[in-house]
Amino acid sequence: MTARDLIVEPLRPQDDDQLFDIFSDVVERREGYPHEPPLTHDTFMSLWRGPGVVTVCARTPDPDATVLGAYYLKPNYAGRAAHIANAGYVVARAARGAGVGRMLVEDSIQRAPLLGFDAIMFNLVFVSNPARRLYEELGWREIGRVPGAVGGDDALIYWRPVGGADPSAAGPETEPQRP
Ligand SMILES: CC(C)(COP(=O)(O)OP(=O)(O)OC[C@H]1O[C@@H](n2cnc3c(N)ncnc32)[C@H](O)[C@@H]1OP(=O)(O)O)[C@@H](O)C(=O)NCCC(=O)NCCS
Repeated sequence: MTARDLIVEPLRPQDDDQLFDIFSDVVERREGYPHEPPLTHDTFMSLWRGPGVVTVCARTPDPDATVLGAYYLKPNYAGRAAHIANAGYVVARAARGAGVGRMLVEDSIQRAPLLGFDAIMFNLVFVSNPARRLYEELGWREIGRVPGAVGGDDALIYWRPVGGADPSAAGPETEPQRP
């Protein structure tokens, strides 16, 4: 089965436990998120199922519906800045490197404008995270650095417009490079 055979849709309540296990493993291994292990149910629920959070998963189409990965979208700010989303992605360790993460990120770019967002922002991307390459390839621009954010290491802030937002709003660095 390839990533393209998977169903990408809002996470069903009965699949919460599968996502808990995936995210719990990510937290345990301190991959990409600052949460301290062990992951508690309350922390999981507030990040992935809190008010205003939309959670989308990639799952197998069979009746067992194995969840292989997921992302959340939610307002990054209140009120007049709530048009900017925050997103987070996870893929189960056993399913990585097969395009599931890329598919989820691409889906979030398509889905965010349907939810009323015109940009997606990441607040805390570890400088060591290999996902940076994916984000940059798919149009995110590094717009800031938080010194010593996690365990003494810096973290990066990324932003990209989505939907009808004007890509040139990000400045000349996002213009296509011409020879
Ligand atoms: C980041 C993550 C969601 C990527 O999922 P994935 O299914 O492995 O990603 P894909 O197979 O679609 O790979 C897409 C791209 O991501 C990049 N990438 C992701 N993980 C990588 C790794 N360990 N090493 C090298 N490149 C990697 C590559 O650019 C890759 O592109 P390529 O296929 O052209 O080489 C997954 O590794 C994960 O859950 N990590 C832990 C949680 C995390 O860090 N989330 C992001 C928080 S900012």
